[in-house]
Amino acid sequence: MTILRSQVLGCGAYLPSRIVTNAELAERVETSDAWITQRTGIRQRHIAAEGELTSDLSLRAAESALRNAGIEAGEVDLIVLATTTPDETFPATATRVQAGLGMTRGMAFDIQAVCSGFVYALAVADNFLRVGQARTALVIGAETFSRILNWEDRNTCVLFGDGAGALLLRAAAGDGGSHDRGVLSTHLFSDGRHHDQLYVDGGPSSTGTAGHVRMEGREVFRHAVVKLAEAVDAAIGQNGITGADIDWLVPHQANRRIIDSMGNRLHLPPEKIVLTVDRHANTSAASIPLALAEAAGDGRIQPGHLVLMEAMGGGFTWGSALVRW
Ligand code: ACO
Repeated sequence: MTILRSQVLGCGAYLPSRIVTNAELAERVETSDAWITQRTGIRQRHIAAEGELTSDLSLRAAESALRNAGIEAGEVDLIVLATTTPDETFPATATRVQAGLGMTRGMAFDIQAVCSGFVYALAVADNFLRVGQARTALVIGAETFSRILNWEDRNTCVLFGDGAGALLLRAAAGDGGSHDRGVLSTHLFSDGRHHDQLYVDGGPSSTGTAGHVRMEGREVFRHAVVKLAEAVDAAIGQNGITGADIDWLVPHQANRRIIDSMGNRLHLPPEKIVLTVDRHANTSAASIPLALAEAAGDGRIQPGHLVLMEAMGGGFTWGSALVRW
C-alpha cells in the first residue's frame, strides 16, 4: 500500500554568540559550577543579544536548514514554529520568518507546548503533509527563554538557554512499512492539572506583562521520568520495535539525569544518545532540533537511521516522535 510519509530533507541550527558559563552565574546568584553540573549536567548556555529576537534566531536556523536541504524558500508551503517566547503577542513569529525568507505563499503559524513544542510542531506538520495539504514544511523550534527568566531566582535561571533549530520535511511516497524513510509515528499527551508545577506568572490576558518562569523542580523531575517513559513506550509499541532497533535517542535536553534515565529504560549505550545539554542548557522547544542538526551535521545520524525523540514540558505536555532519517 502506498502512503505519504514526511521525509527529512535537511536540518539547521542557530545559537546566539554570547556564552554564559556557570561560573558567571555564580557571580549573580548563590550557586556554583559544581551544583549546576552535578544536578543538571549543564556547563554553559547561549544567550541572545539585546535586540536579537526569537524570529531572528528562527530565520538563521531556517536558512541553514534550506541550505542543508538544497531547497529554495519558495518551495516551502508550510512553516510551523514552536515557541514559548514569541516576538510579540501577535502576529505569529512564524509569519515573521516567512517574510524574512521572502516567501509570498503558503501558510505559517506558531505552536505553544513549551518544552514539548518541537514534537508537537513535528506532529502537526507531519499530519499536514500526510493528508496532502502541504508538500514541503519547515518545522522550527526557537526560544529566547532568557527573556522570561527571573535572573535573581537560582532555582530557574541556571537551567535555560536560547537558540533555534529547524527541520525541513517533504511528503514522499512510502509503502507504509517501518523501513520507509520519514516520520513513522508521533504521540502527543497533555494533562492541564499540572499547571502550578511549571508556568509563567504573566501573559496578555492576566497581568499584561510577559512574566517569569516558576517551577517546582523536584515535582517536574518526578513527572518527567514517568511521562517520558509513557511517550517512549507508545512509540516503541506502535512500531513493533525494541530499544535495540533505535540508532539514536534525541531527547529534549532539560537535565542529564532525566536523559540518562530514558537511556537506561531503553537499554541504550551512552554513545547512542545525542547530548547537548552541557553546552546549550534547556532551550525548550529548540533543544531537539538543535541536537538533530548537530548530530546530522557531524555525520552521526545517517540516512536510514532510526531516531527516537521525546520531550516533556509545561502544561504538562509530553510526547515522542519516531523518524527513519
Ligand atoms: N544552586 C545551588 N542550590 C540550588 C540551586 C542552584 N542553582 N537551585 C536550587 N538550589 C537548592 C534548593 O534551594 C534546595 O535547597 P534546600 O534543600 O536548602 O531547600 C537544594 O538546592 C536542593 O533542591 P532540589 O530541588 O531538591 O534539587 P534537585 O536535586 O531536585 O535539583 C533541579 C533541582 C535541577 C531543578 C531538578 O529538580 C530538575 O532538573 N528538575 C526538572 C526541572 C526541569 O527540567 N525543568 C525544565 C522545564 S521542564 C522540562 O524541560 C522537562
